[in-house]
Amino acid sequence: MAGLAVNVDHVATLRQAREIDIPDPVTAAAIVELAGADGIVVHLREDRRHIQDRDVRILRETVKTKLILEMAATPEMIGIASEIKPDLVTLVPEKREELTTEGGLDLRLHKDLVSDAVLTLQRAGVPVSIFVDPDLDQIKLAHRIDANMVEIHTGTYCDAPTPSKRTDAFNKIVNSLKLSQKLKLGINAGHGLGYETIKTFKGLSEIDEFSIGHSIIARAVIVGLEQAVRQMIALIKGP
Ligand code: PXP
Repeated sequence: MAGLAVNVDHVATLRQAREIDIPDPVTAAAIVELAGADGIVVHLREDRRHIQDRDVRILRETVKTKLILEMAATPEMIGIASEIKPDLVTLVPEKREELTTEGGLDLRLHKDLVSDAVLTLQRAGVPVSIFVDPDLDQIKLAHRIDANMVEIHTGTYCDAPTPSKRTDAFNKIVNSLKLSQKLKLGINAGHGLGYETIKTFKGLSEIDEFSIGHSIIARAVIVGLEQAVRQMIALIKGP
């Protein structure tokens, strides 16, 4: 049965809107864990627009489940991750002007750079997942550079404007899951997932864990964080 890792970046987004010290993503992470989540995800961006270095350091001490650090494959981030040693690094592409991660890492373009990052992080004792589009070539490349896992991008499916585009996106995800499993890669899935779209993924036994942020934090504003996490867990793990 798939697990749920909750991305708490948007708790930090709210804090940074006032540049003060509340709400604290560290407190949020503790509540998320007590509600039953299997991991905490934070994305330390180059521009530090939400999560700060201090958050990652403290979370490394306090998270009881699993700390997943999303980051770009830059020397600065590789240095931070090698020192802090999260339980998993997920390498993502990063553009300054984007609102959120816009797509998977293109391993056709960045294979050598990402391969070096994977090796350095693994030598520091940190397993590495690569966020990729549901594209068979990208998955083969992730396998070739010895990544431990892939995280399959679900955003194209979730945001598909028509039923036929949605079906097409879903088929690509299913084919990507099958290939990743055949290649013995660990498999996470995420981006854009909400309380409706998650239902489509429930039966896909290849998926180890979902990585979900925005929809859970958005619901938390209305119903509270514990409820929001429990409701998502029920959809993933319930009958
Ligand atoms: N996975 C990756 C690689 C991401 O970059 C993000 C967004 O930070 C997520 C999952 C979570 O996406 P969402 O906030 O849309 O649930």
